[in-house]
Amino acid sequence: MINKPQINPSQTIDPRDLRQALGAFGTGVTVVTTLDTASRPVGVTANSFNSVSLDPPIVLWSLRTSSPSLPAFDACGRFVINVLTLEQVPLSRRFATPVPDKFNGVPHEPGQQGLPVLTDCAAVFECRTEQRLEVGDHILYLGRVEAFHHRPGPALLFCQGRYAQSVCLELDAT
Ligand SMILES: Cc1cc2nc3c(=O)[nH]c(=O)nc-3n(C[C@H](O)[C@H](O)[C@H](O)COP(=O)(O)O)c2cc1C
Repeated sequence: MINKPQINPSQTIDPRDLRQALGAFGTGVTVVTTLDTASRPVGVTANSFNSVSLDPPIVLWSLRTSSPSLPAFDACGRFVINVLTLEQVPLSRRFATPVPDKFNGVPHEPGQQGLPVLTDCAAVFECRTEQRLEVGDHILYLGRVEAFHHRPGPALLFCQGRYAQSVCLELDAT
């Protein structure tokens, strides 16, 4: 079913409809991790991750201002982007749920900056926060990549509110 286009500027935007429209843009899925001031691991599922610049290497992601994890990301000034594989859907669900100890039983080890790096991810980017911008109901973090690693394998995707897997087409990207 095609929804009515929302083009009348005097109309207020329906947030549910907007969310659905934004969901048409498929993304990967990450868990962004850091340490709080007591050196406890903190992590949130985020699909707002994106690359910004190669030289210097800058990435971004955003976190809702009401998140209980926000003070840890602000205080630490560093974060790790853990890009999930197809097998890591349970981790995506776990870190999207406000349970007290999200890391309990989750394999992870300290990265080069000492922050938690989840085991067997498709890619990992260890970042230092370069800029923090308050944008509406989210905080936008821009981070400089200080270390990274990756491995081949099927990445986890998220599109139209559902988890998905990629099917590569035999077409050039250009
Ligand atoms: C696939 C997926 C992507 C998400 N992306 C984001 C995101 O980019 N930013 C955000 O603030 N919340 C995002 N969420 C919601 C958070 O993961 C969820 O609110 C989680 O509870 C945040 O951790 P907290 O309880 O510490 O705030 C996403 C959830 C899912 C399932």
